[in-house]
Amino acid sequence: MTLRFITFILLLTLVLAACGTQSTPEPTTEPQPEPTQPAEASAAEAEETPELSDIAQAGQVVFEQFYEEVGFACVTCHYINSDNRLLGPGLLSIEDRFEDYDVETDDLEMYILESIVAPRDFNVPAESPYPENIMPDTYGEFLSEEDLDALVAYILAF
Ligand code: HEC
Repeated sequence: MTLRFITFILLLTLVLAACGTQSTPEPTTEPQPEPTQPAEASAAEAEETPELSDIAQAGQVVFEQFYEEVGFACVTCHYINSDNRLLGPGLLSIEDRFEDYDVETDDLEMYILESIVAPRDFNVPAESPYPENIMPDTYGEFLSEEDLDALVAYILAF
C-alpha cells in the first residue's frame, strides 16, 4: 500500500513536472532569425552597389520613378548594374561601348543626356537591333535639368 502510494506520488510529480516545463513557454532572450535576415540581405546588396554620391542618389530616385507621362520607369527597361538586355540595353558598360559609337560627341555625359532626351537620334548597335521607337522620347519635356544631370551621374556611378 505504502509502496503504491509512493509510486503514485512519484509518477504524479513526474507528470506535473513534465506538464510544467511544457506549458510554460520560456521567455527567450535569444535573437530571433527573422530580424537578422534583412540585415544580411542589405549587407550583400551593399557589396554590389557602389557608394553613391548625393547627386547619383537623386538620380536613382528618378531612375526608379514611374512617370505617368510615359507610363514607364527607366528601371522597367534598363538594368543599371548589368549589361544584360531588358527592353533596352543594360547600362553597366556604356562607357566601353561608347568608344565604338558613331556619334558626333566624344563626351560620354553629353551622349547619355542626348540618349535620354532624344533617343531616336542614335541607334545603339546590337546583334538584334533595338526597335527605334520603344524608348519614350518625351523625357526632356517633363524632367528638370537637375533630374537629367542626376540620371547621368547615377548611370556613370556603376
Ligand atoms: C520602354 C522602354 C524604355 C524606357 C522606359 C527607357 N528606355 Fe532607355 N532605351 C530603351 C531602348 C530600346 C534603347 C535603345 C534605343 C536605340 O538603340 O534606338 C534605350 C537607350 C538608352 C540609352 C543609351 C544606351 C546605350 O547603351 O548607348 C540610355 C543611356 C538610356 N536609354 C537611358 C534611359 C533612361 C535614363 C531612362 C529613364 C529616364 C530610359 N532610358 C527609359 C528603352 C527604354
